[in-house]
Amino acid sequence: MAEKCDRCHGLNGNSVRPEVPALAAQRVDYLDEALRAYRSGARMSPEMAAMSSILTDDDIAGLAAHYAHQKGRAVIFIAVPENRRASEARDMTDQPPHAPFRHYSELPYSLRTLFTCVLLILGLGYLFGLLNIYFTYAGRLAAIP
Ligand code: HEC
Repeated sequence: MAEKCDRCHGLNGNSVRPEVPALAAQRVDYLDEALRAYRSGARMSPEMAAMSSILTDDDIAGLAAHYAHQKGRAVIFIAVPENRRASEARDMTDQPPHAPFRHYSELPYSLRTLFTCVLLILGLGYLFGLLNIYFTYAGRLAAIP
């Protein structure tokens, strides 16, 4: 039974998701009361309503005791600064999912330099190729009487 709870509440009730409370090392009477409140509908939560509706009084007592006895572990949540979150959200809606960049100028500088060099070499190669053909045949054409 507790394995099901752990799926949301973390291993042994040590939640790693900010939206799901940790249960490990919580007071047994608090857990007991919270589960009864979810079951009766006095405390509302879509997730917990579904989870608690099938629990018997014994289940609740057992689960409360189980989690009260788990070792509580420290978890650190790092809050992403507001402006960055906003820009991330904008990026997600503005961009097609597989486009890593929209403009040439958004490419890293090294990649842009590389592209420029490749284009330059290809361009020069093309130019010298044309000149080569021109000078090869121009002479011969002129020599034809
Ligand atoms: C689908 C995910 C999910 C599952 C599975 C789940 N929970 Fe929860 N639980 C939540 C969420 C989300 C909350 C916070 C709800 C709220 O705001 O009241 C919560 C809250 C609780 C609380 C209240 C904690 C507090 O600090 O107030 C208890 C106790 C609890 N759950 C026990 C359990 C037990 C025992 C099980 C297994 C029978 C379980 N949960 C299964 C998601 C889940």
